[in-house]
Amino acid sequence: MALIHTELCDTVGIKHPILQGGMGPYKTESLAIAVANAGALGIISCIGMAATLIPEAAPIDAQRLFGSDPPAVILQKSIETVTERTRTSGGVFGVNVPVAAEFILASKMFVEQTIESCRSNSDTERALRVVVTSAGNPKPWSVLKDEGFIWIHVVPSVYHAKKAESAGADVIVASGHEGGAHVSWDPVHSLVLIPAVAKSVKTPVVGAGGFCDGSTLAAALCMGATGIQMGTRFIATKESDFEPMWKQAILDREERQTLVGRGLFGPMRFLRNKRAEEIVEQTLSDLPNFYLGEPLDSNEEILRLEQTGFDDLLDRKENTALMFGGEVVGRIRDLPTTAELIEGIVSEASQVLNKAPKFVIDM
Ligand SMILES: Cc1cc2nc3c(=O)[nH]c(=O)nc-3n(C[C@H](O)[C@H](O)[C@H](O)COP(=O)(O)O)c2cc1C
Repeated sequence: MALIHTELCDTVGIKHPILQGGMGPYKTESLAIAVANAGALGIISCIGMAATLIPEAAPIDAQRLFGSDPPAVILQKSIETVTERTRTSGGVFGVNVPVAAEFILASKMFVEQTIESCRSNSDTERALRVVVTSAGNPKPWSVLKDEGFIWIHVVPSVYHAKKAESAGADVIVASGHEGGAHVSWDPVHSLVLIPAVAKSVKTPVVGAGGFCDGSTLAAALCMGATGIQMGTRFIATKESDFEPMWKQAILDREERQTLVGRGLFGPMRFLRNKRAEEIVEQTLSDLPNFYLGEPLDSNEEILRLEQTGFDDLLDRKENTALMFGGEVVGRIRDLPTTAELIEGIVSEASQVLNKAPKFVIDM
């Protein structure tokens, strides 16, 4: 089998240039183990960011969904489990910490826990190489490099990529608007974003948003990226921690069946169902205020819709459950193991790239 080897593999210490996206506030522990053992970068997601700081959002991070441990303890236990279960393979993993201003104290708490976990266990120190920050200002987080981590920051535009580079990020993830869950208010899709970011910074770039197979990995490399990050595609794998109903919902949807609406912490891309339609309706009713730069007055209603959407996920009500996913749902039709998925992607990408030189005619 041919391998695809890029600068990203050397920087992070992975066999394949593929990152699993952080997918808070959901558990991605089993997924991170499987991805790391398959030679890509597994990521533990943070759970309970909102509950720590914004009392009105606490019901969203309900105990029912995440158990009764405090958020830092959930993270600590996940780090221990993933360390233990990647020891034999020597796989590496990271932690994703969203750093939006709304929950910056929670972000600090999760970063401190991650540092503490590495200091107290030499196996963790070996395997937990990466911290991925997202959804906020990169500047305060260069301290992660002083702690010995590879620091990756996620951005939605060239402007933000330049900020991440001047803050000193080791790798920049350029995340296109077709991706699942949080997206930017200003939509720039992967085909425009990734080559633009790759040309604007010297830091290695990883493409996110819409990636799922070998041809899209090959395309990312051709656009100047050093690898890809995938969220939605990894949900629909055998080992992923997500509800079977959610996995099936991805398999059932076509590419037009996602919607972007306003979430409590910014716009999100949902799998289209009745709940997503209600959220979009609410978002549209807010538009006049949004364009006038006035405060949005539907916080309570958005909170109610998200909260009942979380409950309905647990009650397995497909039409009213809150489920996120990218446009790439339209290209996902199977439920492989992560190893099958990753090996399939690499093998297809190498075939595509091997064919590419035939298109070039020297004159
Ligand atoms: C359910 C879900 C939850 C997500 N939560 C986070 C998160 O907590 N932090 C983050 O940086 N990105 C988050 N993302 C974005 C992913 O990390 C990834 O960048 C994105 O899914 C890539 O686009 P794709 O879905 O087309 O693969 C989430 C995505 C999904 C689908």
